[in-house]
Amino acid sequence: MDRAALRVDGARLLRRIEALAEIGAIEGPNGSRGSARLALTDADRDGRDLVVTWMRDLGLDVAVDEIGNVVATRAGADPTLAPVMTGSHIDTVRTGGRYDGNLGVLAGLEVIETLEQHGVATRHPIAVAFFTNEEGARFQPDMLGSLVYVGGLPLEEALDIEAIDGPSVGTELTRIGYAGPYPCPAATRPHAFVELHVEQGPVLEAEGIGIGAVTGVQGISWQELTIVGQSNHAGTTPMAMRHDAVYAAAEIAVFARRLALELGGHQVATVGAANVTPNLVNVVAATATITVDLRNTDEATLQEAERRLAEHCAALEAAEGVAITRRVLARFEPVAFDPEVIDLVEATARRLGHTTKRLPAGAGHDAQMLARVSPAGMVFTPSAKGISHNPAEHTDPADLAAGADVLLQVLLALAGEGTREVTATSPSRSLRLRSRHGDGGAATDGGRR
Ligand code: GLV
Ligand code: MN
Ligand code: MN
Repeated sequence: MDRAALRVDGARLLRRIEALAEIGAIEGPNGSRGSARLALTDADRDGRDLVVTWMRDLGLDVAVDEIGNVVATRAGADPTLAPVMTGSHIDTVRTGGRYDGNLGVLAGLEVIETLEQHGVATRHPIAVAFFTNEEGARFQPDMLGSLVYVGGLPLEEALDIEAIDGPSVGTELTRIGYAGPYPCPAATRPHAFVELHVEQGPVLEAEGIGIGAVTGVQGISWQELTIVGQSNHAGTTPMAMRHDAVYAAAEIAVFARRLALELGGHQVATVGAANVTPNLVNVVAATATITVDLRNTDEATLQEAERRLAEHCAALEAAEGVAITRRVLARFEPVAFDPEVIDLVEATARRLGHTTKRLPAGAGHDAQMLARVSPAGMVFTPSAKGISHNPAEHTDPADLAAGADVLLQVLLALAGEGTREVTATSPSRSLRLRSRHGDGGAATDGGRR
C-alpha cells in the first residue's frame, strides 16, 4: 500500500459525526441541528458510551483515567515507543454545534479505521483521546481533563471543582461511570499530539483557504464578578441614591467591549453570563454576577486588559457605592505550537493539494495543554460564516474529509512505518507487529521524550 496515497472515507466520518450529534440533539436557527452535551451530564455519558463502543469495535485498547479522559490505542510495531496521539473533546456548550471537538475525536477514529482497512502498520502506536470538560461551560476551568492529564492541576483539586448546577467533578464522574482506574496525570508523554478542529472563526472561509496550520492558542482569562448593591423600590428611590448592581454590571460589559476595541489586535472581551437578584421589574437589583472572558495572543496586552478592567471596577465601587468581588475561573497564557509540527501540517496539506494559512486559534483547545509535555500542533478546517458555539455551526463535508486526510498523513509521518506479520494462528486482531527498524531499534525513546 502506498501510504502517501491513503485517504479516509469521508462518508463514514460524516455518519459518525451525525450519529454522535443526535445524542443531546437541539434545534437551532433555520432548521440547523446541534448538540447539548454539557460535561459529565447524562447526555455526555451517552455520547461517551457511543464513542467507546466505536473504539472497542475497532479493536483498540481503551483506557479511562481518573479524570474521565478516554484514550484508545492502536498498537505500533515497536511496543517500547510512546504513542503519537490525536483527539479532542466530545462535551459541548449548551448551544453546541456538531463539529466542535467531535470532529477531532471522530477523525482520529476514521484514521484508525482507514489504517485497519488497508492493513497499514506504524512504528509508534497511535492513540485517539477525548478529554473531559474541554468546554468549561459546566465546570471551570476549560480544558480540565487535558490540564490534569499533563500535570497542570492536581487531580484532587480538579475532582473537587463544583458545577454551575452544584455537583462536583468527582461526584459526576462516579455517577456517569467514568471515574476510571488509569492514573492521571498520565504516566507517559505522547511522542507528539496533533488535533484536528474546525476553525470556529471566519478567517479561512473569508480568504478561501482549505487548511489552517495552527501556530498556537491565545491566552485566556476568565473571571466572575459579583456586584453587591442594595435592592430598593424602583419608583421611590431617587437616581442619585441608588446602589444598582445591574447598572454596574452593564457598565462593566460596555467598558470591556470598548477596551477590547481600543487595545485592538487579537484582543477580545465577552460578558457571556449574567445573573441578577431579585430579578424583578420594580426592584433596583441587589446583586449581579457576570462573567468576563478576555483573550489575546499577546500576554502583556492581556495583562493590561485585566489591569484596566480591575481599575474600572474599583472606580465603579467608589462611584456607585457597590462592592465588587472577583473570582478567577480560568487563566492560561498564550501557547506556541511546535515549529516542526506546524511545518509538517502545512507541508502535508500542500502536498494534498490544499491552500494553507498559518493562524492562531481563537478558542481554547486540548492541544494547548498537551503542548506542555510533547510537541503539539493543530489542523484547522474552515467554519461556514465563522459560526460556532451555536447549533448552526457548519463545515462542508468535503472540508471535513480534507482535514481528516491531512490528519491521517500527519499522523503517519509522525508514527513512522512498521510492518505487520500475520502468523498462522493469529486471528486478525492479534496480528504480530514488528518495526521496520528492527525490534528494540528505538528503545532509547523509552516511551518518553
Ligand atoms: C473553550 O474551548 C473555549 O474556547 O471557550
Ligand atoms: Mn473545541
Ligand atoms: Mn467549544
